[in-house]
Amino acid sequence: MTLRDNIIYQLEKNRGNFISGQEIAKSAGVSRNAVSKTINSLKNDGFLIESVNNSGHRLLENSDVVSEFGIRAFLDNSDDLEIRTFKTIDSTNNEAKRAIADGMTTDGIFVADQQTSGRGRRGKSFYSPEKSGLYFTAVLHPEATLSDSVGITALTAIVVADVIGEVTKKHPKIKWVNDIFIDNKKVCGILTEAVSDFEANRVQAIIVGIGINLTTHLFPDEISEIAGSVGSINRCFLAAEIFKRLKAGCENLVERKFMDDYRKYSLVIGKEVEFSQNGINYIATAKDISDDGSLLVITHEGKEIALNSGEISVRLNKN
Ligand code: BTN
Repeated sequence: MTLRDNIIYQLEKNRGNFISGQEIAKSAGVSRNAVSKTINSLKNDGFLIESVNNSGHRLLENSDVVSEFGIRAFLDNSDDLEIRTFKTIDSTNNEAKRAIADGMTTDGIFVADQQTSGRGRRGKSFYSPEKSGLYFTAVLHPEATLSDSVGITALTAIVVADVIGEVTKKHPKIKWVNDIFIDNKKVCGILTEAVSDFEANRVQAIIVGIGINLTTHLFPDEISEIAGSVGSINRCFLAAEIFKRLKAGCENLVERKFMDDYRKYSLVIGKEVEFSQNGINYIATAKDISDDGSLLVITHEGKEIALNSGEISVRLNKN
């Protein structure tokens, strides 16, 4: 670990509290002068650090630079985990796929301050302006078949809703399939992809892309009605916490006990929905979500249909 990484790690672990230059110097085995120089360079890079004579240095609560060791500070035993952060990238999902293609076999976390080609589901783009959201991809290797792994989508939505709810005390909801809404505004989208060994029915790696609008206030016209923001949250913490819970949740992909939580968070169950299937438009009432993730609806004509996330999109009826 470089001195810089070591200091970032210690500052993040003690965020809000002073650590003396001497203490840092001693634990890193370097001079106090070397510590001062590194602290100054971190300040130049945007870390909000307060330095006070006789007290030392502290990372301020509103400091929001994403870094590998800032994320590691929130994880136990993360040595085997690949963590890469970027000022700007086309898409963290794309970068994760490139890393896998280049031979990365471990789990991974990819975070960018900004995405130039952020991708959403069904070929849509995901608006990813600089430093105002968490644009994050987790790479995981669950011991599961291809079909069991599909549950990671629901699991991710629950994990994100749990964490956002706990931190903000707001009440996130999941709009089937996996958009997170707060106060009827979409604050997060999830794009799950897989690298799979089709013949062996095994997943080689799952790529979970999560975009959370944190402090974005101005959205492009086409999404300005629907998009909203969560509010400021430490992005290093958020990425680490979501990753930790996803990793733990992967143990339950086969049994899918988490589907009860998914149903509890549902914004859709009991509501009128509009959808089209095979060129026909329907209005229906959403009745339930099955353990395999299908949305069970009953149309106004009394026809029961199980909607599969892959084939249709649902709009909540405005009335
Ligand atoms: C959606 O709303 O349809 C899904 C949006 C997913 C966006 C995230 S941001 C991080 C990761 N990288 C991407 O290009 N997309 C996902």
